[in-house]
Parts: sequence; C-alpha cells; structure tokens
Amino acid sequence: MVPVTAVVLGAGSRGEIYAGYALRHPEELKIVAVAEPRRDRRERLAEAHGIAPERRFASWEELLALPRLADAAFVCTLDGMHTAPALLALEKGYHILLEKPMSNTEEECRAIEAAARRADRVLAVCHVLRYTPFYQAIKALVDAGEIGEVCAAAQIENVGYWHQAHSFVRGNWRSSRDTSPMLLQKSCHDMDILLWLVGRDCRRVSSFGSLGRFTAENAPAGAPARCLDGCPHSESCPYYAPKIYLTGKTGWPVDVLTTDLTPEGIRKALEEGPYGRCVYRCDNDVVDRQVVDLEFAGGAVASFVMTAFTADFSRQLKLLGTAGQIQADMGTREIVLHRFGEEPRQIPLPDGGEESGHGGGDYGLVGDFLATVRGGGESRSSARASLQSHLICFAAERSRLRGTVEDVTL
Ligand SMILES: NC(=O)c1ccc[n+]([C@@H]2O[C@H](COP(=O)([O-])OP(=O)(O)OC[C@H]3O[C@@H](n4cnc5c(N)ncnc54)[C@H](O)[C@@H]3O)[C@@H](O)[C@H]2O)c1
Repeated sequence: MVPVTAVVLGAGSRGEIYAGYALRHPEELKIVAVAEPRRDRRERLAEAHGIAPERRFASWEELLALPRLADAAFVCTLDGMHTAPALLALEKGYHILLEKPMSNTEEECRAIEAAARRADRVLAVCHVLRYTPFYQAIKALVDAGEIGEVCAAAQIENVGYWHQAHSFVRGNWRSSRDTSPMLLQKSCHDMDILLWLVGRDCRRVSSFGSLGRFTAENAPAGAPARCLDGCPHSESCPYYAPKIYLTGKTGWPVDVLTTDLTPEGIRKALEEGPYGRCVYRCDNDVVDRQVVDLEFAGGAVASFVMTAFTADFSRQLKLLGTAGQIQADMGTREIVLHRFGEEPRQIPLPDGGEESGHGGGDYGLVGDFLATVRGGGESRSSARASLQSHLICFAAERSRLRGTVEDVTL
C-alpha cells in the first residue's frame, strides 16, 4: 500500500496525536511537513517523523504559500484558526482532516461546509466519538431496528473536576472570547452523536447553564494567585496544581504544560505558566454546568447534561425507542440492550480497537479518513454531516444567554 502523505498544521496535542498514527501504521500514513510556531513542538514532531529541515515551517501561512506538498493537511490549530487554513488547503487540493469545532463562528462553519461541497476532496471533521467501537456498536443496534423508532435520548457528559480545571479554567478553552463557548468546544461531540443516533434533523433547542464555581467569590480565604505561592489550602483543595501535575506521570495532561517533563521542568511551568494558577483566580468565563434540550423532526426529543463536577471522565447514554431501550456507559464500556418483553442483553464490544484516546476514536478517525482518501467517497464526519451539530451549539448558546427557545435552521 502506498502511504497517504500529510502535512500537520499546528503541532500541539492534537497534531501530535494524529501524526502518531503514522508511527504506528507507516504503511498507511507518512508525515512529510509540519507548520508550528513553537520551536520545541515543531522540532519534536519533525524529529519523530524524520521530516527534512526544509519542510519544517513556523506557520501554516508559510507552508500553504507553497504548491501542495502532500495528499492531505491535518488542521490542528486552535478553534479560531481553523477556517483560513482549511479553506486555503482545500483550494490547494489537499484532503482535509479538520479539528472540531469547524470554526467558532456560524458563518465560517457554513463557509467551510460550502467550500467542501464544491471541492472534490475528502474533508473529515474530528468528531472522534463516531469512530469509537462503543458508539459504533450502539449505532449498529439502532440501525438494525433493535429498539424500534428512537423517541428520546439522554446523554450525560462527565467532564471530570480536574479536566475542567485543566482545560476550561486554567487552560486553552477557559475563555469563550478567545476560543469557543464550552458547548461548542466540548460538547459539539455530544450534539453530533445525538443527531447521528436519532437520525433526524434537530428543529429546536433550549439551554440553561452558568459558571458557578470557578470564580473569585469562591476563592477560599488566603488563597494566593498561584498554588505554589504557599497556598494554605494545599491539603484540602482538589485543584491544588501539584496534585494534578506533579504525580510522576508525564502523559496528557502534563505534556500540555511543557516539553521539559522532568519534575523541575513541570514545577517551573507551574510557577510561571497558566496551569499553576489558583482555579478561583483565573481569567475564565466558560460554564461549568449546562443542559440542552433538543426536539427533532418527527417528534423525538433528547436531553443533554454537561457538568464539571464528576469524579470520572466519561459519558453515559440512555436511548429509548418504541420497541426497547439501550443503556450505555462509555467509562465501563457497558452496553445493555433491553427489548420490551425480552431479557436484557449485554452487548459485547470487540477487544482491541482502543489503542488511542477518546475510547479508540482518535485512531479510528485517522484510519477511516485515510481509507476514504484512498477509496473515495464522503467521510462519515464530513462537513455536511458535521455542520448541524455546530448549528445546534450556536443556537443553544443563544438560548442560554437570552432565555429563549431557538430554532435550528440548516
Ligand atoms: N477532536 C477532539 O476530540 C479534540 C480534543 C481536544 C482538542 N480538540 C481541538 O483541536 C484543536 C487543537 O487543540 P490542541 O489541544 O492540539 O491545542 P494546542 O494549543 O496544543 O495546539 C495548537 C497548536 O497550534 C499552533 N499554532 C498557533 N499558530 C499557528 C500557526 N500560525 N501555524 C501553525 N500552527 C500554529 C500552536 O502553537 C499550538 O502548538 C482545537 O481546535 C481543539 O478544540 C479536539
């Protein structure tokens, strides 16, 4: 098999994960160029993949100024920096693996979808949950008619208290102005999965939610701006940064802090960088709890809850049909099908298939993208298939802020 060649635009966490597929499956994928302003990240990825010095660029703008260098471009920059590289790369003839959210504005999401429709290229949005053995097994049950017509669904996203602190209080996605609102950033996956499982267009949404906990008013007495500045609550506070980052582990999320993963390097990052800040004294504004109610064409309804305040870091789903129900927990990998009038059945998941993050979805997505590039056709998470989940997030955010019920108009 001739490997698909790709360039990586943004060699941060996601760029490195997707590029990592090439190290595991060199017969399928070869990374031939990288664009990344941070020298440490650029060099780390370039060295791992043996990228020639003249194929290491300081920005996507520099790389995309050249004639096409590869079959595909992985757009892995931050949320507000997806549209311009995606549109230009499409124009240059690259197939695109595009991180979610497609963009943090509705207009740009629509522009990407329109451009992808015009271009004869594969564009896959990184809705990794669609590629997990867990959700694929549930989708197969629905498609086989096991629960009849889907009437209602309830999904809970357990963000996890430390994950909320890491990504949405101290980290990249703490500010809706700088990146995206929480729902678009974290839960466009959930909107996508609900749409996929219900199999109907969403017509209307309403939403409530707020930032209730990680605010200055909730700072315990005497808490300094940084945990390592002698915080008197180090024992009792679950968010005390060394408890999360100085545990001896160096994988995600610790590797987001620094490329120097020695204890000294991590401590320095906590002393100087954003991840050492007191969670009650950050410049965050995204919600730490939110609910969304959805109404679909044909009358099916769904309810979604996202909360920071969970010990685990997983999703739970109950899917209710006219002929039965599915109860599923992504954390325990348990799926129980209960058809009315029959005994409940545990649905086994295939062994393996989880060699990567997001329950195997990360590499499932890349493998599927490469197969579509080779074989043609439209990605399972094409721009067309992904646009509506984004529109739901924009509408739900309007509802949350205005106290209205909002239409979702394609
Ligand atoms: N699919 C998922 O489940 C999932 C999970 C996490 C994050 N994401 C999304 O992936 C995207 C990237 O997130 P991340 O965690 O990798 O962030 P990150 O900050 O680790 O990586 C982004 C990288 O882009 C680089 N960059 C900035 N300007 C650039 C330019 N002009 N040219 C090239 N690179 C540039 C940054 O230096 C950084 O290294 C975000 O949009 C995020 O929302 C998706």
